[in-house]
Amino acid sequence: MLVAGNWKMFKGPRETVEFLDSFEPPAGVDVVVCPPFVSLPAAVGRGVPVYAQSVHWAAEGAFTGEVSAGMLRELGVEGALVGHSERRQHFGETDESVRRRCEAALEAGLAVIACVGETEAQREAGETEAVLERQVAAIPFHDRLVIAYEPVWAIGTGKTATPEIAQEAHALIKALHDTQVLYGGSVKPENAAELMAQPAVDGALVGGASLEAESFAAICRAAVT
Ligand code: PGA
Repeated sequence: MLVAGNWKMFKGPRETVEFLDSFEPPAGVDVVVCPPFVSLPAAVGRGVPVYAQSVHWAAEGAFTGEVSAGMLRELGVEGALVGHSERRQHFGETDESVRRRCEAALEAGLAVIACVGETEAQREAGETEAVLERQVAAIPFHDRLVIAYEPVWAIGTGKTATPEIAQEAHALIKALHDTQVLYGGSVKPENAAELMAQPAVDGALVGGASLEAESFAAICRAAVT
């Protein structure tokens, strides 16, 4: 089981240190945190592996606002999220750019959590399977890469997928790409155990509920039991 905390654009270096000073990951589960770029140096070396929230495909170059895998490695960052739906929705991330970012990160020795998931309109139109097939087809196979299934309609909305919906989507993804699949979208201490009890759910990618040390620790514990 892997539980990853995606802090999105929350927590500068000071709050990052405060969080990690009060957070004790339980034994028996792999836990990582994904702080914003500016907080990565403060997070590294405090007992929890650190992943970035994105990574560029080039080693260096004229790419204003981007950060390369080599730069992350230099800081001691161990992995990166790639293709989060907020990157796809707001920052023009495409299946092709997701593929390039994944490849560069893996090549540089980072682990990758590659995100996929359908929107509400796509689910209602019966397109979930086609969307997941297309997104997963762009993701390379590698033993340092896992996939996160995050239905866009469940992210930050309080609308969690039912365990059955998660199980069905995870089973589909695993049939296409033999890897661990994390569930993401309104995971909380109250629903974490039930979601992670599904046979095809191998952990969680947690947004809002990862911002408080206590609720994140509770979700991590739910992955153990
Ligand atoms: P949420 O976000 O847990 O706040 O819904 C999950 C994510 O976007 O990774």
